Amino acid sequence: MEGNVNNDKKVAIVTGANGGVGYEVTQGLLKNGFHVVMACRNLEKTNQAKEQILAELPSSKLEVMAIDLSDFESVKAFAGEFKSKFDRLDILVNNAGVLFNTPKRNSADIEMQFATNHLGHFLLTSLLIKLMPDSENSRVVSLSSLAHKKSEIYFDDLNCELQTKWDAPYSQSKLACLMFADELQRKLQHAGKKIISISAHPGGTDSGLFEHMSPILMNILRYTFVPIFLHSTENAAKPILKAALDRNVNGGEYFGPTGLLEMKGTPGIAKRSKYSQREDVAAKLWDISEELTGSAFEVGSL
Ligand SMILES: NC(=O)c1ccc[n+]([C@@H]2O[C@H](COP(=O)([O-])OP(=O)(O)OC[C@H]3O[C@@H](n4cnc5c(N)ncnc54)[C@H](OP(=O)(O)O)[C@@H]3O)[C@@H](O)[C@H]2O)c1
Repeated sequence: MEGNVNNDKKVAIVTGANGGVGYEVTQGLLKNGFHVVMACRNLEKTNQAKEQILAELPSSKLEVMAIDLSDFESVKAFAGEFKSKFDRLDILVNNAGVLFNTPKRNSADIEMQFATNHLGHFLLTSLLIKLMPDSENSRVVSLSSLAHKKSEIYFDDLNCELQTKWDAPYSQSKLACLMFADELQRKLQHAGKKIISISAHPGGTDSGLFEHMSPILMNILRYTFVPIFLHSTENAAKPILKAALDRNVNGGEYFGPTGLLEMKGTPGIAKRSKYSQREDVAAKLWDISEELTGSAFEVGSL
């Protein structure tokens, strides 16, 4: 492999590492000795975040690489660049996410939250999993949300044109992240691989995720709802770090905060909807994700 810059340290990628939960997860992985790649869209913001982290953790191996998860060509370009620099990947944290309150599509005319939160990560994982050593320390961590419980996968309406709730596309995308993680774990197990796939959600935290919401509503919530029900981004990152680092994780778990309404508290096993456990739906979602990203994801051939 050409131009590799790292062989001595374990390597992790965190998507959406420049703020919120991803920023905290990045720090957690650095403190555990990983060389971390911040896979981000807004490079100026990401370079600032990198400097901030390095000011606190100066001996860290940290770098920035560009990716726009809503754009499949950008995901492929990122994977190509990563492979030209690294010959291994130990942990992939599929963290980046968007929440919109108005309809948006990507350049392939796919609903933006489904494209970014699920399909971009599906494609990224398919392109990089071959770099993962066959060990239980090799992990794909996918970020879901409590919102997954409100949704189904609307196979006849993936762009959610017929859905009446404003947050239906976000909920569907986060359900897809959870079902992808489970299906990946089943496929890895079936293929006799030791690499594991785990999912986690951060509970509730006041992050950049809500930047598209009404500022007036957000200000009201910040004085009422937020202090009672939400926790800090540092605590919100804990279930994700547990999925990434805990030695007692076997694959297929779904972690989240176990306190008040599962919005905050100590990380542990999170509750899932019945629908999210449907293997027939997960298998169908996998096939459609391959079709929409134009990329075959053959776990058996790893
Ligand atoms: N906050 C919560 O209460 C909550 C609850 C449940 C689940 N989650 C999940 O937790 C994860 C992290 O969210 P957060 O709360 O930390 O939100 P955040 O502060 O908004 O962080 C999201 C990150 O995703 C990045 N991103 C967005 N679109 C992207 C794209 N097309 N390509 C590459 N990166 C992109 C953002 O980068 P830019 O700077 O370029 O925008 C940002 O770094 C998400 O998956 C979210 O769904 C959050």
